[in-house]
Amino acid sequence: MSIPLLDALYEDKLRRQSESLLRKLPPHRNEPGIDFSGNSYLSLQNCTLVTEEAARLAEDKLSGNMASRLISQASPLYEELEKETADWKGCESALVFNSGYAANTGIIQAVCNRGTDIFCDKLNHASIIDGCILSGGHFFRYRHGDMKHLKTLLSASAARRKLIVTDTVFSMDGDRAPLEDICELGRRFKCAVMVDEAHAAGILGKNASGLVEETGTEDGVHIRIGTLSKAAAGLGGFFAGSKLIKDFLVNNARPLIYSTGLPHSVLAYNLAAVRYIRNNPTVGKTLLEKADRFRKALEASGWDCMDSSTQIIPVLAGSAENALRLSAFLKQNGVNAPAIRPPTVPKGKERIRFSVHLGIDDKDIEQVFRLMNQYRLMQK
Ligand SMILES: Cc1ncc(COP(=O)(O)O)c(C=O)c1O
Repeated sequence: MSIPLLDALYEDKLRRQSESLLRKLPPHRNEPGIDFSGNSYLSLQNCTLVTEEAARLAEDKLSGNMASRLISQASPLYEELEKETADWKGCESALVFNSGYAANTGIIQAVCNRGTDIFCDKLNHASIIDGCILSGGHFFRYRHGDMKHLKTLLSASAARRKLIVTDTVFSMDGDRAPLEDICELGRRFKCAVMVDEAHAAGILGKNASGLVEETGTEDGVHIRIGTLSKAAAGLGGFFAGSKLIKDFLVNNARPLIYSTGLPHSVLAYNLAAVRYIRNNPTVGKTLLEKADRFRKALEASGWDCMDSSTQIIPVLAGSAENALRLSAFLKQNGVNAPAIRPPTVPKGKERIRFSVHLGIDDKDIEQVFRLMNQYRLMQK
C-alpha cells in the first residue's frame, strides 16, 4: 500500500542521492590518522588535568538530573558551573542549557515575539535560524557581514522590539563578525544584540572568553551564547549576561523548562574544562598561530580559504562532487576532513572544512599540505 508521507521520504532520498547530497552517519572508526572533523579545538578530551579533575568532581555520582531543573536540581554543580561561566565571561550571571542548540532556540523564542523584528546574518548557525522561526518574529537576513545591508534593513523597520543576532566566528567560514559595527548599529537603532560565541570561546580574547572580549564590545552586547561542546569538549550550552535576562529565561525558555537537566558527570566534566580554560587562556593563541601557518601555506599554493582568520579553515571546492572527491582522497591517505555541502553551505560554495586543533602537530600539517598539492597535480 502506498502511504504518501512515506513515499515522499523515499523520493527525498532519491533526490539527495542523485545530487550527491545524501548524508550518512559515519561508522565509528578507531583508526590512527589525522582528524580535522571535530570541534574540540583545544583537544581537552586528551588532557589529564581536565579528565582527572572531572573524575574528582563527579566522585561516585554519575547519574542524571532526573527531572527538569525547575522541578529538581539533583546536582550541586549547576550553580558552580554557572558561577564559573559568568566570571569567565565577566557577566553578572549565566544559565546552562542542555546544548548550544537548545540555548539558541530557547533564548530567541523566549525573548522575541510576533512583534519583534529579528536581523540575522545570512550565515548564522541553523540553531539561530530555528530560534527565529519558532519565535514567530519577522525575520530579516542580512548579507554575510554586510553592515550597509544591515543598516538598510534596520532603517526600514518600524518595530519597537528589535534584535540583531550573529555568530561571532562563523562555523563553516572561520571568519569573524564585525562586532564593533554591529554594536554601533544596535545602539543607533535601539536594538538588543545577541551573539553566539560557539567557535570563539576558549580561543579569542585575553581570557579566552571570545570575540566580545577581543573587540571590547561588552557594553554593546546584551545576550551571549556559548557551547560547552566545542573548545571545552563537553556537552551543554549557556547564556551569559544580566540577572534580569537570566530570570526571564528561567521563566520562559522552553528547552530549559520542559527538558531534563544534564547528568552530574557531564556537569563535572564541563566545570573542569571551563576551569582549565580560565587557567590556561593563552592556549587559544597557540592554536591560532598554528592555523595561520596552515592557511598561509594553502593560500600560497593557490587554494581558496575564503575569509577565514581563525582555527576553522574552509577550502573551496566549488561543487558537491569536487568536495566529496577531495575529502575521499584525503581519507584514503589517512586524513579525515569532511566535505561540507548544501544546505549547510550555499550551492557553489561547497568546501572541505579543516577544523584545526591542538592535537594536530606541525608534521601533520606538512603531510596534509603535501597531500593537497598532490591532489591538485592529479587534477591537472
Ligand atoms: C555557531 C553554533 N552555535 C550553536 C551550535 C550548537 O551547539 P551544540 O553542538 O552544543 O548544540 C553550533 C554547533 O555546531 C554552532 O556551530
